[in-house]
Amino acid sequence: MVILSVVGTKGGIGKTTITANLGALAADMGLRVLLVDADIQGSLSKYYQLRRQAPDGLTSVVLSGRVAESAISTTAWDRLDIIVCDAPRRKFAGIETTDLEQFIQGRIDAPMILRKALRAPVIEDNYDLVFIDTPGAQGPLLYTAALAAHRLISPVLPETPSAREFRTGTFELLLKLEEAQALGIGPGPLTAVINRVGHTNDARQITQEIRQSYLEMRGLVTVAETAIPASVAYNEAATAQLPVHRLKRRERGVTPFDTMHRLVWELIPSLSGVYAGGFYDEEEAPSPAAQPPLGEATSA
Ligand SMILES: Nc1ncnc2c1ncn2[C@@H]1O[C@H](COP(=O)(O)OP(=O)(O)O)[C@@H](O)[C@H]1O
Ligand SMILES: [Mg+2]
Repeated sequence: MVILSVVGTKGGIGKTTITANLGALAADMGLRVLLVDADIQGSLSKYYQLRRQAPDGLTSVVLSGRVAESAISTTAWDRLDIIVCDAPRRKFAGIETTDLEQFIQGRIDAPMILRKALRAPVIEDNYDLVFIDTPGAQGPLLYTAALAAHRLISPVLPETPSAREFRTGTFELLLKLEEAQALGIGPGPLTAVINRVGHTNDARQITQEIRQSYLEMRGLVTVAETAIPASVAYNEAATAQLPVHRLKRRERGVTPFDTMHRLVWELIPSLSGVYAGGFYDEEEAPSPAAQPPLGEATSA
């Protein structure tokens, strides 16, 4: 069982989109997948239709420190379950928060709460992969969600402010997570995924700059080879409550189907060559190296 948290210190960069689409793709590849909505905005909870809504969700997991069956809802897709975010939100000093954050902060084992709950036999026995969606702002919920994971994924947009924020914000986040070393735990390796790449020269240049600047941070952050082109398919799929790889749509160049496969193969190499809906011969499988250059892909 592998746990991946999709993190970032900014909203609107594609965390929920990536979590929902990678999770559903892995489930369609035959894996048993659990999504965890650890963002109090609850976007992931509403992303797909639920087949069966459980009476509980994230609140019970955080408060009890364990995942009871009553906290797991099933989605409309086979093998794809979800722990929904059911934490009531409120405003505190103008900032949206939840009592969950207060609760976590008050615990001596704050950084470990989700890690202990998710790295438990009940999850190990029933799931191959766990994807956690996280809030776009630093806080106890983001920290505990990030530290639960074996590996972190962080979207970054090829726009200068976003790229800069990514560098400083991610660095701060990783430093903060390092504090958990005092408890004997630390963050897993972080892979940045460049998301929403348009076909302007500017986007291409910033993409290059992001890759270059992370060569300097080697060891701390790696940038995924697979970048996600900007495509209205991601919005359309979300509106239709469909995983993007299932969206029947004509696209020029690389399709979201290809992109999502390449990304999951890169993040989880043991899945290389596995396709949604079945296993193909290696000969039939398009090589990941066949990806066209960035920016030549889909329309935005
Ligand atoms: N590759 C992409 N191309 C086009 N739109 C995208 C892409 N990725 C995400 N989006 C859109 O960007 C918006 C924000 O994405 P979301 O996943 O909600 O971000 P976050 O969870 O980081 O706040 C959504 O409307 C989503 O459909
Ligand atoms: Mg989100």
